[in-house]
Amino acid sequence: MRRSIVLIVLYQITGYLASNQRFVDDMARYLTVGYEVVDNFNNTWRTFDGKLTLGNTGPDIPIGNATSWSLHFCHTRLFEPDNIRPGGVDLAETGLRVFHLNGCLHKMTPTVSFVGLPKNGQLVIPFRAADWEVARTDIMPNWYLTAPNAQPRTIDVTSGYRLDWVAAFVRPNQYKRQDYDRYQPYKASDRYNTWSYENPGTFKQLIPTPHAEELDTAKTMDIRGVDWLVVANQDSLTPEAKFLAAKLDTVAVNSSQAPASKAILLDLDNSLTQPESYTVDSDCDDQLVKIKGHDRAGVFYGVQTVLSLATNDGGVPHGRVTDQPRFPYRGWHVDVARNFRPKDDILKLVDAMAMYKLNKLHLHLTDDEGWRLEIPGLPELTQVGGRRCHDESGQQCIMPQLGSPPGVGTNHGTGYYTVNDYKEILQYANDRHIEVIPEFDMPGHAHAAINAMLARYRNYISINKTAAEEFLLSDIDDKSEYISVQYFTDNAINPCLDSTYAFVKHLIGEVKGIHSTIQPLTVFHFGGDEVPEGAWVNSTACNDLSSSASYLKEAFVLNVTAIADDAGLDLAGWEDGFTKHEGSAVVLMDRDAFPMKNVYGYVWNNVWEWGNGERAYVMANENYTVVLSHATHLYFDHPYEPDPEDRGYYWATRMTSVQKVFGYMPDSIYSNIAVDRMGNILTEDEICSQYNCTKLDPGQERNIIGIQGQVWSETVRTSENFDYMAYPRLLALAERSWHKASWESIDDVTERERQMSADWQNFATTLGKKELLRMDKMGVLYAIRPPGAWLDGATNELKAVVEYPGLPIWYSVDDSKTWSVYKPGTTLKSEDLCTTNMIILVTR
Ligand SMILES: *[C@@H]1O[C@H](CO)[C@@H](O)[C@H](O)[C@H]1NC(C)=O
Ligand SMILES: *[C@@H]1O[C@H](CO)[C@@H](O)[C@H](O)[C@H]1NC(C)=O
Ligand SMILES: *[C@@H]1O[C@H](CO)[C@@H](O)[C@H](O)[C@H]1NC(C)=O
Ligand SMILES: *[C@@H]1O[C@H](CO)[C@@H](O)[C@H](O)[C@H]1NC(C)=O
Ligand SMILES: *[C@@H]1O[C@H](CO)[C@@H](O)[C@H](O)[C@H]1NC(C)=O
Ligand SMILES: *[C@@H]1O[C@H](CO)[C@@H](O)[C@H](O)[C@H]1NC(C)=O
Ligand SMILES: *[C@@H]1O[C@H](CO)[C@@H](O)[C@H](O)[C@H]1NC(C)=O
Ligand SMILES: *[C@@H]1O[C@H](CO)[C@@H](O)[C@H](O)[C@H]1NC(C)=O
Repeated sequence: MRRSIVLIVLYQITGYLASNQRFVDDMARYLTVGYEVVDNFNNTWRTFDGKLTLGNTGPDIPIGNATSWSLHFCHTRLFEPDNIRPGGVDLAETGLRVFHLNGCLHKMTPTVSFVGLPKNGQLVIPFRAADWEVARTDIMPNWYLTAPNAQPRTIDVTSGYRLDWVAAFVRPNQYKRQDYDRYQPYKASDRYNTWSYENPGTFKQLIPTPHAEELDTAKTMDIRGVDWLVVANQDSLTPEAKFLAAKLDTVAVNSSQAPASKAILLDLDNSLTQPESYTVDSDCDDQLVKIKGHDRAGVFYGVQTVLSLATNDGGVPHGRVTDQPRFPYRGWHVDVARNFRPKDDILKLVDAMAMYKLNKLHLHLTDDEGWRLEIPGLPELTQVGGRRCHDESGQQCIMPQLGSPPGVGTNHGTGYYTVNDYKEILQYANDRHIEVIPEFDMPGHAHAAINAMLARYRNYISINKTAAEEFLLSDIDDKSEYISVQYFTDNAINPCLDSTYAFVKHLIGEVKGIHSTIQPLTVFHFGGDEVPEGAWVNSTACNDLSSSASYLKEAFVLNVTAIADDAGLDLAGWEDGFTKHEGSAVVLMDRDAFPMKNVYGYVWNNVWEWGNGERAYVMANENYTVVLSHATHLYFDHPYEPDPEDRGYYWATRMTSVQKVFGYMPDSIYSNIAVDRMGNILTEDEICSQYNCTKLDPGQERNIIGIQGQVWSETVRTSENFDYMAYPRLLALAERSWHKASWESIDDVTERERQMSADWQNFATTLGKKELLRMDKMGVLYAIRPPGAWLDGATNELKAVVEYPGLPIWYSVDDSKTWSVYKPGTTLKSEDLCTTNMIILVTR
């Protein structure tokens, strides 16, 4: 009697039932989870076999017949392919049933036939799931348990960022997608063959390579320190002067205080015609450096050039650099929605972008899994849509996705920029001549926003119906059933509601306001990609208009266009934001339907064998303004190597090495055709005989304004993860967007590749000897591949190489107990050769 009173009181106070809580707590502690990809080849197409093993290590956990607990987990491949059915699917002979909830979130619960999991017992659950899994990071951490009226708990063994409960991918049917997948994890000898550069690379004075340079490296001067002054010859250049002075540990002065020597003079120069162009003249005799720019941005890039030269051995060489960018748009895209990146990470990125002369920061601020910018007047967007936690009501947060834990606390799924944070980013970027392009993805990819506006609706409905419905993004009565590419069933903003456009108008107004005093907003990037088939078709709100999703999407885009145009903004979207269906064909929306001067198409979906590789040229021919964002070469959420332990998704390509980015040819799209997704050789002729390879019409090159690297963040949870994916690829992207290499124009493939490879060696050498050191000073945790190695059986000579010559190589023959520095000519003793665990490391 007494006990039940206590329980009731507890329940009233905390909302949790003590017994269920104890059950969940114990289970989270004692349950083990083992995950194994068993066979990607067993099924003909698009499913794989896996094995889940649950174990009980507890002394006495009551994992009995409680039918009400659930195991929640994110599985980015639909778990059990029939699982779209709301009733779930029984997992044969386990007594468990699995349900797909939304996005990657699934839940598994016991049925009446569940017999429990005794102490030291194991339950093996064979499963089938969609597609394939060939990399550890396909599996998401933080599986968690729930029971009625108990706080959910992450299962300890899966918590944090650990993935050690996932079995290694050692067999071909584990690390290949199908038997015709040609990719094998690299061996040390493969890397050795790739990186045994013929000649020691020539050191490049500057990255990105300048348009022209005449530098006498025999004659240098050290410009760092207080005895040098930076002089702003025009007051408008004071910020650039101060920026340079701070980096050199000296001060900036006005022309009236300019000394006769030991000065760096900053000037504008009308004779330079191209925006962002500059010259640097460095005179070691007179001890003067003159930086002249067409505009402030040009002067800033001159400043960056001087800073880069100042870190070379001996300092700034005597001579001249004449420089201008290849493209006006040199972009970097960060997805802060899937997983959040704190402000400081973005500021560090902005610094690196500025160093390498990139000038557009595209922030993907919203997606299904999160809304990351505070919008005054719509607090639910960030208070609900900016947080991930287990709350089935959707009132507190959106449900966990992508391996975020059930608690609201700090986790990679939770976070947003306040207006002040964002202004700080804007200011910081603006000071470095970087334009921030905020993206608000719609009408698809909008689960977080839709959910947040539903929470707002529920908060207001009993008080004020008008307020409740004012910004609603979904038709409450919409029974349309659809599923997005990432398995969301409610992620498409309804195009038939006035409240949708009230929302867009409010959003644009606020974002414009936030930008106005720092860096006026010029473009509204509405995303527009991957609107799921079937959305809205049964929405009563749309009945009068049409039941064609394609028509409705077009109507949405045009309505948003009108709002953006009224606000004086250009429009930007991913390529498929501007397509529609015409019969079975997918065609571009008529460019004339958009009144604004520029409509930017970010062209991404170029997987050659899917037949849309021509989209960039088709859009440019139609006078869309094109930013090349090609997934095959510029999606930096993809791995460096075809290795199951390397981080990243691989839907567009199995790997993108730094050299592949370096070798990207933006002026000749089809020349980039080399392999298909499975690593089979592809040629331009093959693809272009199968699909249309529309050519760029004469004169339309002007519509291709540049290139952009994309870091999507489904598998990027920490700052370390982010740096790993971003660097050193950022430097290669900068090189191609700033500088057109001479080899790009060579038609003969063999000769082109020979020259590209020689240029790459120089680039790689410069990274190893200089640029990575600069990255170190900034605290950037760039990726370094393991070394390549080969043992000469005749001489016992160990031959080892690294991707970036100049980095030290260490080796151990005693299982990491002791380490030696590798030098060419190192021979191993015969007895060491018997050691199976020889390990080679490359370190800083
Ligand atoms: C392969 O699939 C069959 C059913 O199609 C199944 O019985 C068998 O267990 C699977 N093999 C493995 C290794 O999972
Ligand atoms: C279910 O659990 C209860 C409480 O632990 C126990 O008394 C009962 O025997 C169990 N029933 C079955 C069918 O195992
Ligand atoms: C130059 O003078 C102006 C006005 O006197 C001042 O605002 C500016 O900060 C000075 N610039 C430098 C580099 O000291
Ligand atoms: C209800 O909300 C609307 C929209 O926010 C507002 O204009 C109106 O004044 C509110 N009505 C009441 C009675 O508060
Ligand atoms: C729309 O409703 C019809 C009739 O109920 C149904 O057959 C169809 O599957 C629904 N379509 C979607 C996408 O929900
Ligand atoms: C949106 O577009 C549709 C179709 O063109 C149109 O009927 C509707 O009035 C538009 N809505 C708004 C709010 O502009
Ligand atoms: C593209 O724009 C140019 C210049 O305004 C114009 O001459 C040309 O006709 C346009 N091309 C198309 C396909 O609209
Ligand atoms: C290829 O181009 C031809 C000629 O312009 C056109 O008729 C055809 O529809 C195009 N095919 C595809 C798949 O786009």
